[in-house]
Amino acid sequence: MAGAAQHAHWSSRWAFIMAAVGSAVGLGNIWKFPYEAGQGGGGAFVMVYLLFVFFIGTPMLVAELSLGRRGQLSPIGSMKKIAQEEKRSPLWGLIGWSGVVGAFIVISFYSVVGGWTLAYMVKSAMGAFSNIDAQTAQDTFVSYISNPVMTLVSHFAFMGITIFIVAKGVQGGLEKAVTYLMPALFAILLVLVVYSGFTGDFAKTVDFLFNPDFDELLYKANSPEAIAAGGATKVFSLDMVLQALGQSFFSLSLALGSIMTYGSYLTRDVNVGRSALTIAAADSSVALMAGLAIFPIVFAYGLDVAEGGGLVFMSLPIAFGQMPFGIVVGTLFFGLLAVAAITSSISLLEPPVSYVEEKTGWNRRKVAITMGVAAGVLGVLSAYSQGDNMLSSISIFGLSIMDAKDFLTNNIIMPLGGLFTALFVGWFVSRKAMMEELAMEDKTFRIWYFLARFVSPTAIGIIFIKIIYDTVVG
Ligand code: PHE
Repeated sequence: MAGAAQHAHWSSRWAFIMAAVGSAVGLGNIWKFPYEAGQGGGGAFVMVYLLFVFFIGTPMLVAELSLGRRGQLSPIGSMKKIAQEEKRSPLWGLIGWSGVVGAFIVISFYSVVGGWTLAYMVKSAMGAFSNIDAQTAQDTFVSYISNPVMTLVSHFAFMGITIFIVAKGVQGGLEKAVTYLMPALFAILLVLVVYSGFTGDFAKTVDFLFNPDFDELLYKANSPEAIAAGGATKVFSLDMVLQALGQSFFSLSLALGSIMTYGSYLTRDVNVGRSALTIAAADSSVALMAGLAIFPIVFAYGLDVAEGGGLVFMSLPIAFGQMPFGIVVGTLFFGLLAVAAITSSISLLEPPVSYVEEKTGWNRRKVAITMGVAAGVLGVLSAYSQGDNMLSSISIFGLSIMDAKDFLTNNIIMPLGGLFTALFVGWFVSRKAMMEELAMEDKTFRIWYFLARFVSPTAIGIIFIKIIYDTVVG
């Protein structure tokens, strides 16, 4: 237990909030949320997503932060320790395991997309977007992700930066960087929202994002063959609801050990409940702003809202190519997006690193390099599964390697991790211990306890049972 001896702590509450917001705000908000909202039919997806963020995600933030703070170890170590203190089965340690393994899988593809942002920052600086039309924007993206050399270089560049910061220890540079860079990202997003709003189709965007059409969310056509034959009927499906649940967890950095690890650096005087609300509010605002910046352009140029993972990279460059100072704004945007991605990726590498450190007693640098390079190598499979790249023909249940890893973590590991965390804090840790740990006002505690004990497990449980039923019976 080498790493546990002098467990580090945040230098202030503000530093912790910024690091946690840095972890939460990332590619999930700006890259993933808009394209998933696009695929999920818009407003209804957004509404369900926000409900999940505040009624399930935020209570889970509270749960994970408090478990981490109580355990003061890696997620695996903390879960085992708390289970033991509460005289429960050591199997609860599996929550820690699924987080650590999940984080390892996620960072392997997160870094690929992080690499895209670096490449796009360079492209923008070189003036590659000036006056491009929608078709060229699309071709530029596809030819980039299909290039085995460029994608490899950008992926490892991104992973290299992540390893470098994690190896140095999170506090020093990171705390300072996030304090300035996160507000800067916020400001530039605001500029983009205003610009897109004036030049693109803002009315349609507002309607799309905030006017829920639940049919789009809850029904899907029964089969591709039936659609092709013109005889499609719609069937009730919770697939997109599960997607929204997974996305709410992903965006809040839940169920992958990141928040639990950051919680372990917390001191006792920080108010966990208030911090969780701040994190959730900041995270959701950035996601909504990203939607407001991207969709006006998508609609104005007739791009496909259900385009998928290329949406941001195909839409925004068109705007950068036309606006005054577009080179500067575009370069800044992708640069800050890269920064937002890095403050998230370090929190993804942190759980596996803290565990291996704890287990082996190796120094942090060695662990960070080993785990980072291993995840980087696994990530090559994702990088090469895109566009017409070398592994693009491989399909796992109809998904590319990258989308399959995303599906496994977003739709299985994260919701299940959340479910068991909720069950653990709601039913297996004594109420008194939770109350002492959280030190909340009585009323706030009761609301939290109700959400964690009943609402979260029931909601996640229903979604899962319906989907398993569909898969087995349907
Ligand atoms: N929350 C990050 C994002 O939205 C991703 C992330 C997930 C980071 C899980 C840590 C843990 O981009």
